[in-house]
Amino acid sequence: MENYRDFVKTAQEVALESGALLKANYFKMNEIQFKGEINLVTETDLASQSLIHDRLAAAFPDHDFLAEEGLQDLRGAEFRWVFDPLDGTTNFAHKLPVFCVSIGLERRGELICGVVFNPMNGELFSAAAGGGAFLNGAPLRVSSIPDLGKSLVATGFSYDIRETHCNIAQHERVILRAQGVRRCGSAALDLCSVAAGRFDGFWELKLSPWDTAAGAVVVREAGGRITDFLNCPVNIYHPEVCASNGLIHDELLGILTQT
Ligand code: IPD
Ligand code: CA
Ligand code: CA
Repeated sequence: MENYRDFVKTAQEVALESGALLKANYFKMNEIQFKGEINLVTETDLASQSLIHDRLAAAFPDHDFLAEEGLQDLRGAEFRWVFDPLDGTTNFAHKLPVFCVSIGLERRGELICGVVFNPMNGELFSAAAGGGAFLNGAPLRVSSIPDLGKSLVATGFSYDIRETHCNIAQHERVILRAQGVRRCGSAALDLCSVAAGRFDGFWELKLSPWDTAAGAVVVREAGGRITDFLNCPVNIYHPEVCASNGLIHDELLGILTQT
């Protein structure tokens, strides 16, 4: 197994620093712009993206970088950082303290490291391929609940929901079968909650690479399963994502793909 400890350590430092920026700005007025009818971006998303890019590029000048707010610094490098400088922007703008920094790393297309930091409760999730997943240094393990009827699962809805009604049918089917369904507003934190055994499963239909990259490694390394809806191993450039403790995966996929 390769030792990715230096990458994780740097990603953790950068996540802590950008998380501190998010937290400081959370208590100030933020200027909000609209990318779409209900899709926000604040000056904090942009400031956090610049900070993360500057720090990572200084540490790893030969690497590539991809992030939500228009950052595509891609030169065909072996390593590509894929990050969301603020996952949960709608929560942030409404002063709901559920958001994070999400930083993932790919090596030749394979996900190898993930770090997710919620600055409002100080939870730092991290994982490296083959090295396990951790929350503030303590090992993480997915839940052992074997059926959906006893499961608490999470989902999210894309910003184009008014045009597409995307995920409404799936949400209706799952909420009638699971113990409960939550919509917390940060896909990266949802994935980490699956890794921590708080949620037994999670799905979403229209995620972007920066939403999934870090959390996918954390789920995998905590013993969970993460795939698309056809049960193929997760591909962060594919929008459909289903993550679980592994035990309820087939049942959840069956309901999501029911016609
Ligand atoms: C969003 C959040 C949300 C999910 C959306 C994402 P953003 O990311 O992760 O939970 O449901 O699909 O776009 O815009 O807050 O970075
Ligand atoms: Ca996001
Ligand atoms: Ca974002």
